[in-house]
Amino acid sequence: MKNIVILISGTGSNMAAIVQAQRQQQWRERHQAEVVAVISNRADAAGLQKAQEAGLATQVVEHKSFPTREAFDAELARAVQAYDPALVVLAGFMRVLTPVFVQPFERRLINIHPSLLPAFPGLHTHQRALDAGCRFTGATVHWVTPELDAGPIIDQVAVPILPGDTAQSLTARVQTQEYLLYPRAILQALQKITA
Ligand code: GAR
Repeated sequence: MKNIVILISGTGSNMAAIVQAQRQQQWRERHQAEVVAVISNRADAAGLQKAQEAGLATQVVEHKSFPTREAFDAELARAVQAYDPALVVLAGFMRVLTPVFVQPFERRLINIHPSLLPAFPGLHTHQRALDAGCRFTGATVHWVTPELDAGPIIDQVAVPILPGDTAQSLTARVQTQEYLLYPRAILQALQKITA
């Protein structure tokens, strides 16, 4: 069985969509894969309750408890490794990870980013797409490398920007597409790992 660990910081709506897809598409039986745990860097992340309701193991590794990014990353790596993951999925995990975490999980660590990378790495992607006059934005799932939002692309979805759109309306439109994109991209990533 290929274990999947999901890291979140907030709402966890992508995590919930992944867990729902896993159940509907019977990943366990068809792909020998399952989400086994959800870990958050924030104890108040709403997604933790969603994960518990879905019957998943949850854990908190609070970044605030550590003096440096590296010390947090080392503890996070220990927590994740305890689940022996084939794949680690960042789903709205809002901490920049250092090589202390990225290197041990490289080639089995993926992220979803709310833009059509390589456009708009970093924060405030939808506002920046609006400010630039883009006609399309979207979301990208990519392998995580030590450089922020720069690893090889696994899959993307493009979303039109409509007259009157705001960062908020774009967030909502893009997220509905993320919920379809991420489960699909996870299966693609798992195929690559086992190929
Ligand atoms: C998602 O839209 C994801 O693309 C974005 O955070 C949101 C998390 O929502 N990720 C990033 O901005 C990463 N830099 P969720 O917690 O409801 O899944």
